Amino acid sequence: MTIYFAPMEGVTDGILRRTHHRIFGGIDVYCLPFHRLTQSLSLLTREQRDIDPEENAGLNVLPQALTRDPEQLSAWLYYVSECGYSRADLNIGCPSPTVTKRGRGSGLLRDPGYLRSFLDRLFSNTLPVSLSVKTRIGYESAEEWPELAELLAGYPFAHVTIHARTTREQYTGAVHPEAFELALRKGIPHPVYNGDLRTPEDVQALMARCPGTEAVMIGRGLLADPALARKIRGGKEASGEELRTWYTALYEGWKNRFGETIALGRIKKLMEWPGGSDIRRKRLLRRAGNIEGCIDAILRELPAAE
Ligand SMILES: Cc1cc2nc3c(=O)[nH]c(=O)nc-3n(C[C@H](O)[C@H](O)[C@H](O)COP(=O)(O)O)c2cc1C
Repeated sequence: MTIYFAPMEGVTDGILRRTHHRIFGGIDVYCLPFHRLTQSLSLLTREQRDIDPEENAGLNVLPQALTRDPEQLSAWLYYVSECGYSRADLNIGCPSPTVTKRGRGSGLLRDPGYLRSFLDRLFSNTLPVSLSVKTRIGYESAEEWPELAELLAGYPFAHVTIHARTTREQYTGAVHPEAFELALRKGIPHPVYNGDLRTPEDVQALMARCPGTEAVMIGRGLLADPALARKIRGGKEASGEELRTWYTALYEGWKNRFGETIALGRIKKLMEWPGGSDIRRKRLLRRAGNIEGCIDAILRELPAAE
């Protein structure tokens, strides 16, 4: 099984990707958060840094773009190729209103006619790198999925990642595994399942339901349990020592790049994932004034980690 670490803007930067690979591993491909393409084709400093091969040394990465313009995308694919990468991903799943109102991200799912003409124009030329796509299963409703799945099955994508929710559902509520089953039946090229995989048992349940599954993408599950991919492959739980090293290395990396205040804020945000809505953990973390205090708070709450 291929395991992708999901792109998460503001979280899964190069520091997190490299640190994760060094301590926990188990990931085949680390996905880069999207580059928001513009008319001028200029990228933000942080976007340029994120795709820099040095930032991704030793990792298999998949850069991603957010656009509804085939010419912009095509130019960016050449840039990706010049950076030394052989594949890239198109985001048609972002549900953020600021993105969808401009018809980008999952806003494209609202207009299958435009999506088709966009992809026709894009694939009418030979692309310099292979292209995959990351989608949701509809904008308003999962009933849109059969038409969208058929549309996506008609293009030579390297793979199609399916977050099994609609735009309206954002990130919560039940996922729709039946939509992934449909993707397998419709002959979508190399579908990758995404959505709410939190434990090895969740992956086993998915495999039992959809035996043809070749690949999964995991986001929040890996933030909550950075050893999850390793465990899915039969490896061990994260030890307390590993978690201490993980959070300390992230803090040091972020401190060197952004300064102490931002680094501590980022660490606290990251540490909230294992506890979900655990109010006590949130309170302990909020009170912690330094990285040691944060780690003590979280390890005290994680008896299984010792
Ligand atoms: C904070 C945050 C940022 C995200 N940024 C991106 C992004 O840049 N590109 C993208 O395709 N998906 C992005 N996503 C969606 C995730 O990649 C993933 O599809 C989603 O979290 C569902 O998977 P999960 O249940 O395993 O977390 C983001 C999600 C979160 C929570």
